Amino acid sequence: MGRSGLLADALKQIAHEVDGGFEALLPLPRDARAPLVEAMRHAVIGGGKRLRPLLLVATAQLHGVDRGHALRAALAIEAVHAYSLVHDDLPCMDDDAMRHGKPSVHKAYGEAAAVLVGDALQALAFELLADPANFGDPFVRAELVHVLALASGAGGMVGGQAMDMAAETTSFDLPTITRLQQLKTGALLGAAVEMGAILGHVAPEGRTHLRGYARDIGLAFQIVDDLLDHDGDEDKAGKALRKDAAAGKATFVSLLGAERAREQAALLVDQAIAHLAQHGQEADLLRAIARYIVERDH
Ligand code: IPE
Ligand code: IPE
Ligand code: MG
Ligand code: MG
Ligand code: MG
Repeated sequence: MGRSGLLADALKQIAHEVDGGFEALLPLPRDARAPLVEAMRHAVIGGGKRLRPLLLVATAQLHGVDRGHALRAALAIEAVHAYSLVHDDLPCMDDDAMRHGKPSVHKAYGEAAAVLVGDALQALAFELLADPANFGDPFVRAELVHVLALASGAGGMVGGQAMDMAAETTSFDLPTITRLQQLKTGALLGAAVEMGAILGHVAPEGRTHLRGYARDIGLAFQIVDDLLDHDGDEDKAGKALRKDAAAGKATFVSLLGAERAREQAALLVDQAIAHLAQHGQEADLLRAIARYIVERDH
């Protein structure tokens, strides 16, 4: 199978599985919580590239993990990601009306609901990981919870979001922007790979090359997000673009210029793929994901 065929099939399959997983997890209750759960479903079903689930499942597959198991962890990390987007779109943050080609959660259901959707999705993520019915091995459960918590909080995604807000009023230099992006975006992408390795019982010292791969694609991913914000197509993106410059936000693009930013992203992808040198064709999906990250148009 060709490279793009492998990736296209994998993206289609994971999107289908993640939608089905959230459908099953989020039936509408017959009480006053129904609007909350409806808004949660709006946030997690039928949108997004599902890149973190795909990374997790691809890394797990590399280590022979049962796909059903990997999927449960994949739903957890996607729940955290979806919550981060719901809060990111709030008027007090990026104030965005569109996400995934439909109204953002606060536009469709109100601000209070959007705050609660994020809260509940975050709790759902940890509920899934801590559930013995999902992961029988208590060491695996504890490590999954620990890794996702580290990547989500002040030392990870939330810390990066805080720096990102500060970037509107402070002019950060390149090392600081790099740190910001590593936290804001890199941490969760790294956790996806790490969680796949945990499920495969790969010891921490055996994960070094995977961490290198994840670090490089994480940075490349955010450079491309900034490039797409700069010159992408809004219909394809399903969200408002040209927001960073309007907010006066320092990004890779504002600091390096679009051309050098694109070169940097391509370099990082080559470097990411080089980290997988010890693997044969069983790592082709991880390689294809790395290339997709810079070639994507949304
Ligand atoms: C968008 O992430 C937000 C960032 C972390 C830059 P994605 O581009 O992975 O979001 P979806 O889920 O595919 O829309
Ligand atoms: C959002 O970054 C990152 C997180 C939610 C962690 P952006 O604000 O750049 O994402 P988009 O461009 O709105 O998708
Ligand atoms: Mg933002
Ligand atoms: Mg945003
Ligand atoms: Mg962006």
